[in-house]
Amino acid sequence: PAPGWTVEADVVVVGSGIAGLTLALRYAGLDPEAKVLVVTKDVLSSGSTRWAQGGIAAVLDPQDTPAEHLSDTLVAGVGLCDEEAVRVLVTEGPGALRGLIAAGARFDTDDSGELQLTREGGHRRNRIVHAGGDATGAEVQRALVQALRESSIEVIEHALVLDLLKDAGGRAAGVTLHVMGEGERDGVGAVRAGAVVLATGGMGQVYAATTNPVVSTGDGVALALRAGAVVRDLEFVQFHPTVLWLGEDSTGQQPLISEAVRGEGAVLVDAEGVRFMKDVHELADLAPRDVVAKAIMRRMRETGADHMYLDARHFGEEKWRTRFPTIHAVCREHGIDPVTQPIPVAPAAHYASGGVRADLHGRTSVPGLYACGEVACTGVHGANRLASNSLLEGLVFAERIAADIHAVRRAASPAAVRPAPGEPAADDRPTGLVDPRARPRIQGHMSRGASVLRGQDSLNEVARALVSTRWTPVAVEPCTESWEATNLLTVASALVEAARNREETRGSHWREDFPERNDAWWLGHLDVTLTAEGM
Ligand code: SIN
Repeated sequence: PAPGWTVEADVVVVGSGIAGLTLALRYAGLDPEAKVLVVTKDVLSSGSTRWAQGGIAAVLDPQDTPAEHLSDTLVAGVGLCDEEAVRVLVTEGPGALRGLIAAGARFDTDDSGELQLTREGGHRRNRIVHAGGDATGAEVQRALVQALRESSIEVIEHALVLDLLKDAGGRAAGVTLHVMGEGERDGVGAVRAGAVVLATGGMGQVYAATTNPVVSTGDGVALALRAGAVVRDLEFVQFHPTVLWLGEDSTGQQPLISEAVRGEGAVLVDAEGVRFMKDVHELADLAPRDVVAKAIMRRMRETGADHMYLDARHFGEEKWRTRFPTIHAVCREHGIDPVTQPIPVAPAAHYASGGVRADLHGRTSVPGLYACGEVACTGVHGANRLASNSLLEGLVFAERIAADIHAVRRAASPAAVRPAPGEPAADDRPTGLVDPRARPRIQGHMSRGASVLRGQDSLNEVARALVSTRWTPVAVEPCTESWEATNLLTVASALVEAARNREETRGSHWREDFPERNDAWWLGHLDVTLTAEGM
């Protein structure tokens, strides 16, 4: 659709989690004269960040070293991490975390005021900072939203990003948006800006059961694909091993039981009370996430069960209430008392390790378009993200992107920093939108055939089903729901394509027909760009 209104900015940031808000604040700090605009699909605090429980990994203990954090991250990534990107992450992480504290975030400390550090799967040291016990993301989001409200950064809420605008030279020149209920800004409009940052988070909603909130529909990856940007490693969807099991038919956002619960001593058991992780990995219940998820799935198969249990009864009431108040409350809401009962758990979709390919400065393959946080694939996660490296990635790369945009704008002539006036490039995007009623069908197909365990037959079946989902007999009304369904179908199709191509098992990509890791053929990445019919 042609934009009905246009707003000008210097930098437009799409998304309002840790990545987007940190970036906007950092950029505004570097260039107070610039107009920075944050656009977000719902309200500022509605994304994934606020749901993060465990915390942020950073080398703060004098006994710990960046080299060890690097090594743990590389092991979890199973040969596909970009070592330089991981080095940036682990060495710049502690400083970025201090920046977040300076911005107002309050983390849990011990009696002497030192930050408390805990452990999660795959970490060989205690290096996870947390807030409110198990409400780290909520505190981070609170602090960043408050800092944003006190700044001059402008915000448009309820604004679903549609497409990238490019100038005649193919450089990012802004985005189109679908905005609801913003007075004059109702309907489809455009933001014209010389730098566009995608910080739209993940795509967990392509599956029926996920830890992700309802807004995580892969909008940034879908936009990037439509804009011709390279997207990488989409087959590596991480399934969190311990999500509260609410029954086979439970769909939508599922409650997370943080790995930090295992970090503090909880153990996985089957229905007979047998600890099955001890024989699987030297780190037992604290093995990397993919190892634990696979072990749970295998045990479920062997015993014919649809879930396992996490036993932390020995924490006692006091520890449950003070260290894990959120999880304690959510379990009780669902009729489980973790003080007296093992918690029923099963894996569910949690995190996209891949995304829009981005370099060490967050630059994508489209000039002027940046990607930051879960939407990006910077190479820090490889085939499987290490626990609590995600908020860290958002922080570290937000600072780098802000610095890069600033350097580019300072080096450019004044005329070049904003896109040339005039109409945005013609909108030549295909017009067929997906019927919102297809959303649960897409999710069901993905959960049945492209989930934690997949094979050629199941993936082929999903691919066929997704193609038939695309076509509807009647024209679909453009609205948030139809755009989200379109984006879900786009990213699901790209994900399935990548998963079909990678004929091996590695990290969170588990092929039952190719159960071994194959370094001879597959120690590389799968890049996806969109085909003409693949909207
Ligand atoms: C958790 O608390 O287990 C989730 C942490 C993460 O996804 O990094």
